[in-house]
Amino acid sequence: MKVLILNASPRRKGNISQMVGVMKDEAESNGAEVEVVDVQHLDIRPCVACMKCRSTGFCVMPEDDSQRVLAKIQEADAVVVAAPCYWGNMPGTLKLLFDRIVYGLMDESSVGFPKPLLKGKRCVLVSTSTTPWPFNILMHQSHGAIRAMKEICRYSGFKIVATVEKGGTKRNTLLSEKEEKRCRKAARRLLS
Ligand SMILES: Cc1cc2nc3c(=O)[nH]c(=O)nc-3n(C[C@H](O)[C@H](O)[C@H](O)COP(=O)(O)O)c2cc1C
Repeated sequence: MKVLILNASPRRKGNISQMVGVMKDEAESNGAEVEVVDVQHLDIRPCVACMKCRSTGFCVMPEDDSQRVLAKIQEADAVVVAAPCYWGNMPGTLKLLFDRIVYGLMDESSVGFPKPLLKGKRCVLVSTSTTPWPFNILMHQSHGAIRAMKEICRYSGFKIVATVEKGGTKRNTLLSEKEEKRCRKAARRLLS
């Protein structure tokens, strides 16, 4: 089983990176082949909204990392999308990637309804925010980032098997035992 992890945090020792590390470890211990993509380091130009991909099924822009990451998503059996909350949403780097690969994630009906292309793949969504619990949820902070990622993953056809959120990262810079357990459980759900 192939698992792809999209890590959209630029902080290599931050909470998202710790959570992703635990999930990688758990998935590998259960026999999965895991690859981590550091979204921060991708070379991707912004979508120009020519809309040509909606009828042709490919992007007319010069090849960059967006096509390469799309191929990895298509090859994977399961995907983890992990992103800190920036302004109640996902970081721009991750949004840039999803904007450029829309043609590989969903098709459109003649009147413009989305038709998912990745049915059957499993997915876990992860987010963090400085806003502490329960306000990270109630005030749509980490929860805002999760909502935005859910929008993309649902319309792409992913089955979202777990979401993991952590608030209060200003004071809690290390994963607690309970948080680590939640990450391990989410990783196992990806594989089952
Ligand atoms: C540009 C930027 C915007 C942010 N916006 C928010 C926000 O809207 N709400 C919030 O609670 N935290 C916000 N944060 C804080 C991050 O979500 C928080 O530091 C997070 O834990 C970083 O995760 P990481 O250490 O795993 O990378 C923001 C941080 C940055 C750099």
